[in-house]
Amino acid sequence: MMKEAISVKKLSYSYRDGTKALENVNITINEGEKVVIIGPNGAGKTTLFLHLNGTIESPENNVYIFGQNIGKMATKDKIKEVGIVFQDPDNQLFMPTIFEDVAFGPINMGLDAEEVERRVKKALATVGLSGYEKRVPHHMSYGQKKKAALAAVLSMEPKILVLDEPTANLDPKSRSDLIRVINELNKKEGITIVIAMHDVNALSELSDRVYVLNKTIMAEGCARDIFSDSRLLEKNNLVAPDIFNLFKILKCFGYDYEELPLSMNEAAEILTKAIKSANGHIHLHIGEHTHDDIYKIIGP
Ligand SMILES: Nc1ncnc2c1ncn2[C@@H]1O[C@H](COP(=O)(O)OP(=O)(O)OP(=O)(O)O)[C@@H](O)[C@H]1O
Ligand SMILES: [Mg+2]
Repeated sequence: MMKEAISVKKLSYSYRDGTKALENVNITINEGEKVVIIGPNGAGKTTLFLHLNGTIESPENNVYIFGQNIGKMATKDKIKEVGIVFQDPDNQLFMPTIFEDVAFGPINMGLDAEEVERRVKKALATVGLSGYEKRVPHHMSYGQKKKAALAAVLSMEPKILVLDEPTANLDPKSRSDLIRVINELNKKEGITIVIAMHDVNALSELSDRVYVLNKTIMAEGCARDIFSDSRLLEKNNLVAPDIFNLFKILKCFGYDYEELPLSMNEAAEILTKAIKSANGHIHLHIGEHTHDDIYKIIGP
């Protein structure tokens, strides 16, 4: 049977100044799943995440981690189950050196020096920061700090990894390395992954399932269904991946294959299928309505 890693039931939350950030949010994430949460700025993604490790506690206690009410879990259990990588790495790194930052969690878990050392080494290697042990966090670049913040969470070896905007400010190589690392942690170690991100071009590679959050859950489903619903996207200030829209444009030029790609890899696969199924050629043309149809997708 599937185990529920995270269950959020009817969660509402207002900040002290009265800002209503979440309203009746319901989410269920199974162990081993990779789930991405998308939504516009101010949608409540970060607020939701702060509930997942008990940083913010809802009075009704409606967050469950592996069936346990988070309000009733001891801190040492919480940090073993859920690791959150914050949106801003400056909120995660506060020690004089990278080593101390990445060792902080394991030391607090009461692990012996040898195990702490092993975990720091492994975590830094995973994010591509081997050899950075003695560096001063606030003297590192923003992208390096993002990676160090991830290492500081990986060293605790949590069962659930929650990432708030992990690809923001990363260079293209670091971004694809990160996507690979996240997928490996999920596949090889069975770690449940929850990600909030605006980077829709990377979304399909990182998600089995998507939630659209805008104070409350607006939609839930696979990436293809979410991005095919243009009214949903418009209503929530979202856009589909560039490659998905490009293929929609090709359709205006007469490309007639049903399936639209969400990533470059998929585009190559789908185009191959489309060309093979049409005896080796696809035909494009400009018709009377072609450009009107295109404007409907990209605007005039
Ligand atoms: N400490 C706070 N006090 C008052 N209001 C807050 C606080 N933190 C966040 N908010 C408000 O709560 C709402 C949700 O904010 P949140 O940071 O969760 O959004 P988000 O989806 O993470 O946005 P982004 O995509 O910009 O990261 C916003 O209206 C925000 O202004
Ligand atoms: Mg946020």
